[in-house]
Amino acid sequence: MVRRKKQLKDRASSNRGVFSQSVFPGVVSPLREVPANIARPPYVPGTMSLPRTPLPLDEKVKRMRETGIAAREVMLEVAKHIEVGITTDELDAIVHEETIKRGGYPSPLQYGSPPFPKSVCTSINEIICHGIPDSRKLQDGDILNIDITVYKNGVHGDHNQTFFVGNVDEESQNLVKVTKEAMWRGIAEVKPGASTRAIGKAIEEHAKTNGYSSVRDYTGHGIGEIFHDKPTILHYDTPHNDTIMTPGMTFTIEPMLTIGDWQSDLWDDDWTVVTKDFSRSAQFEHTVLVTDTGVDVLTLLPSEPREFPNS
Ligand code: MF3
Ligand code: CO
Ligand code: CO
Repeated sequence: MVRRKKQLKDRASSNRGVFSQSVFPGVVSPLREVPANIARPPYVPGTMSLPRTPLPLDEKVKRMRETGIAAREVMLEVAKHIEVGITTDELDAIVHEETIKRGGYPSPLQYGSPPFPKSVCTSINEIICHGIPDSRKLQDGDILNIDITVYKNGVHGDHNQTFFVGNVDEESQNLVKVTKEAMWRGIAEVKPGASTRAIGKAIEEHAKTNGYSSVRDYTGHGIGEIFHDKPTILHYDTPHNDTIMTPGMTFTIEPMLTIGDWQSDLWDDDWTVVTKDFSRSAQFEHTVLVTDTGVDVLTLLPSEPREFPNS
């Protein structure tokens, strides 16, 4: 047992310097339109934002269940189209249409500064997160993260997962498997009275046990009427992250694990986050609710399994 851990650790550090860039910026298509009858979040230019009192907790939760399911449905639709040769821009068009079809606004579109230009984040191979859909065609062996956020009924639902494109090498397959497990280990720590620190600790431990690094520069976040809110959910252990969870809290858990080191760089587009060492990175994300007794995952269909460790 101890020996295996050491071997895995050595693998990560001996890999240093052996990775190379596989994703380069492509052409970004013109802005897609959102029909006027779809309600926009307040950060979209031209949106009237009247001062609002926060929703009552039970109303927020009710709305977030509906929005979370919509985000999951969009994921299941776009997943059908992932194959060698399709461009990330074509996947963006699908997410855009499927979101609007459900009465939602694609939250990434025009979010932040500079305004994000597309309706979904598509992050391939060494891209950690916030990749911008463009003219790049998916290649055999790529791993692709699709990060979907839907704004509907005045609340956001945020969800991502990593897919295989064609035949993917074993190391990448293992990275994706371990990252998904790490997310579920984090979700399993969610219960009223517990500290958010337990989430990061569980995730980092699982990453390290398997010889991987957990990215520190990007975090999970509170979510609801606001896309990125308090509390910050770290995916590593530190005493400085100890918010006590209470029923009705909603936040994301979205670990990013890398084969090499966790340090990141930013492309000139000011969005695309890439590993410094060009090692591959995988991510999974759910929006979760703290219940009276534990946790609910809001970005899965009610019929889908909750893949808790040992379940
Ligand atoms: N969905 C991302 C998250 O998990 C945020 C994307 S912001 C964007 O928090 F502007 F890049 F879309
Ligand atoms: Co998120
Ligand atoms: Co997200």
